[in-house]
Amino acid sequence: MRVAILISGRGSNMEALIKGVKSGFIPAEIGLVLSNRAEAEGLAKAKKSGLKTLFLDPKEYKGKEEYDRAIVETLRGEGIDLVCLAGFMRIISPYFVDAYHNRIINIHPSLLPAFPGLDAQQQAIDYGVKYSGVTVHIVDKGVDSGPIIAQRVVEVKEGDTAETLAKRILAEEHKIYPLVLKALAEGRVKVKGRTVMVKE
Ligand code: GAR
Repeated sequence: MRVAILISGRGSNMEALIKGVKSGFIPAEIGLVLSNRAEAEGLAKAKKSGLKTLFLDPKEYKGKEEYDRAIVETLRGEGIDLVCLAGFMRIISPYFVDAYHNRIINIHPSLLPAFPGLDAQQQAIDYGVKYSGVTVHIVDKGVDSGPIIAQRVVEVKEGDTAETLAKRILAEEHKIYPLVLKALAEGRVKVKGRTVMVKE
């Protein structure tokens, strides 16, 4: 399975996936790391790991779909089977979702369907929930609304800020994302409508 990782920033989830692949835990190849931001820290990290990287500048395209068409063309050119969004802070167009139907996954720092969109950790703090967490899901045409593959719960502690909560959630993100990619690469994930079954 050839995988592309799409990032916009720090790339710590990307690093967790790279580590999983390099150690042999995940039987996949990372064919490309693509960013929509030239200055994304993760791009430099991916380069350092010897991976192929690409910055595609959204400003050079007329609109969202045009940009996503360029991404899809690039992914196809690289023989990519699966796309992992790892802090890729753009909404994927319906064109892209159809081109890689059920083959785009995303990690989100809340227990979806609670707190989709931006600043999920701050949303959890503001709401006053006692538990939040992390979700890995298939990307559909909505925002953070696709079929859920896996979730982990993280307790919200007294005195937590968005930053302290984000840190504890991130530690779980780095565990769950490699596990999900491993399950996909091993063909242990079956999708039936909204239900996703993962064989142990
Ligand atoms: C992660 O917490 C990820 O869950 C979140 O952005 C962070 C990226 O960190 N993604 C979203 O909020 C998507 N809606 P990273 O660049 O270090 O992996």
